[in-house]
Amino acid sequence: MECVLVTGASSGLGRELAISLSKSYNLILNGRDTERLESTKEKCLNKTFIWQYDLTKVDTIEKDLTEWLKGKDITVKSFVHCAGLMKMMPIRSVDAKIIYETFSTNVFSAQMIIKVLVSRKANAKNLKSVVFISSNISERGASAFSVYGSSKAGLDGLMRNLSVELAPDVRINSVLPGGMITEMTKEIFNDEKIKEEFEYNSPLGIGKPEDIVPVVEFLVSDKAGWITGQQIIVDGGRTIDITERSK
Ligand SMILES: NC(=O)c1ccc[n+]([C@@H]2O[C@H](COP(=O)([O-])OP(=O)(O)OC[C@H]3O[C@@H](n4cnc5c(N)ncnc54)[C@H](OP(=O)(O)O)[C@@H]3O)[C@@H](O)[C@H]2O)c1
Repeated sequence: MECVLVTGASSGLGRELAISLSKSYNLILNGRDTERLESTKEKCLNKTFIWQYDLTKVDTIEKDLTEWLKGKDITVKSFVHCAGLMKMMPIRSVDAKIIYETFSTNVFSAQMIIKVLVSRKANAKNLKSVVFISSNISERGASAFSVYGSSKAGLDGLMRNLSVELAPDVRINSVLPGGMITEMTKEIFNDEKIKEEFEYNSPLGIGKPEDIVPVVEFLVSDKAGWITGQQIIVDGGRTIDITERSK
């Protein structure tokens, strides 16, 4: 059976993406929290499988995913990497553990999953498109974001290099969202002052997962058949705006 694999499908943007993609494709949902994965699955149409797996286990992804796909007789035509870890942290507080966890979840796991999905043994020549959920910080900078921001820049570097290496068989692009209210950011946006300032600095306001979903669906589909190696910023104008404002 041919499927689209969505990581981060237990929450936020990944859940909304899965629900929408399930109207057109069979799905594999990945996350760690089985209960929340089941609750996404309940909202999905078409055939939906759950691959519960902690993506920080980078060393074992290749073996475990290969066996899981073979065991279920599933092939993967598209892969959306939406899983993400974001801990705001000034450089003085950064330690090796958080760097490793963040890069494993956000970047290294995606690289190992793609290795599996282009291997003849695990997935033959079935993989056609990949979309990475990056962030608009990938191309910018912000205080306390050195770990997360550099991981997303790394993810986009991986995207660009693989887009060349895997052409013409596989297209691979990144979507770079700006601030949306999800589990990841709800505590930040609970602060009314921060929320107000964010709205003030965003020409189209704070985003929602629904603002990102159609762009990802387009890049996954054959309609984007001549697009590869691109970063598509979907951030309500947050990073284009250099207007000087006095409050
Ligand atoms: N929210 C924003 O403002 C914003 C802005 C730009 C980019 N993004 C990006 O958008 C993506 C989705 O974020 P979101 O806002 O929807 O956040 P979210 O609601 O916190 O979802 C994060 C997802 O990542 C999964 N995940 C985290 N660590 C994992 C691990 N070790 N193994 C497997 N899965 C793991 C979580 O699954 P479990 O909980 O089941 O482990 C969850 O499904 C992320 O890549 C994020 O960086 C978000």
